[in-house]
Amino acid sequence: MQARRVRAPNLGEKRVAIDIKSPKEIELMRTVCRLAAETLVLVGEKIRVGMTTEDINRIVHEDTLRQGARPAPLNYKGFPKSVCTSVNDIVCHGIPDGTVLKNGDIVNVDVTHVYEGFHGDTSATFYVGTPSPQARHVVEVARRSLDAGIEQVRDGARLGDIGAAIQEYVEGEGCSVVRDFVGHGIGRKFHDAPQVKHYGRRGTGDRVRTGMTFTIEPMVNVGGWEVDVDPKDKWTVRTADGSLSAQFEHTVLVTRDGCEILTARSKSLRSSENVAALFVASPA
Ligand code: MF3
Ligand code: CO
Ligand code: CO
Repeated sequence: MQARRVRAPNLGEKRVAIDIKSPKEIELMRTVCRLAAETLVLVGEKIRVGMTTEDINRIVHEDTLRQGARPAPLNYKGFPKSVCTSVNDIVCHGIPDGTVLKNGDIVNVDVTHVYEGFHGDTSATFYVGTPSPQARHVVEVARRSLDAGIEQVRDGARLGDIGAAIQEYVEGEGCSVVRDFVGHGIGRKFHDAPQVKHYGRRGTGDRVRTGMTFTIEPMVNVGGWEVDVDPKDKWTVRTADGSLSAQFEHTVLVTRDGCEILTARSKSLRSSENVAALFVASPA
């Protein structure tokens, strides 16, 4: 989600009520998030050198309908496809097209389902063929930064604790965190309050409470954090310096002493998590 810009310094952040889900709503969130996670697992099984991002769109679209769900991106604010596919220096919101995936590429696939009126949002970055050391580094840093953010979540934690944990980890690994796009509350709305920044200071920001559902979705760049939106399609977001970018996203439910990862997977992702296990810590 695009970050709302603060118009003037010192005005602070607008405080917006954050929805607490009822037990029934939580059950529906569990269902839609499980379906979205299953589609992401399927994508991992299909990723191949030579396929197009439009092929990924078709796989996601058909699997979503097969489940009896709907792809939330399709026609969302005019987005023309059923999934976002973001290759190499594309940070997010890449539009599936005839782009052919080649050996060494990385591609983030961001799946969002709607089912019984509720949204489930999850993404992962996949390796196409054999990655360069730099590609491995940015993808594994992005993956672990999401874990670092998730570790902070519990009743009473502050949003700034999540952002700080992500930022400290990413910058300690020599990468940068995108500022212009944030995680978000989710439920009946695709993008709801709060904004979940992937940078910030511990002890600041709203407190998260049991029963809130939101996404954490850090975008991590090899170079600087600055990004540009494509002036022609108005969607595709690229790193300003052309460096590689990777992202992972989960939808989580806050609990008393931690969180439930609603988009957790029942098996590991092919072309991503299975490959990660082969890597030893590797600076780019
Ligand atoms: N799934 C993206 C997110 O994580 C939003 C995509 S909006 C779209 O928030 F219109 F580009 F699909
Ligand atoms: Co999201
Ligand atoms: Co998403």
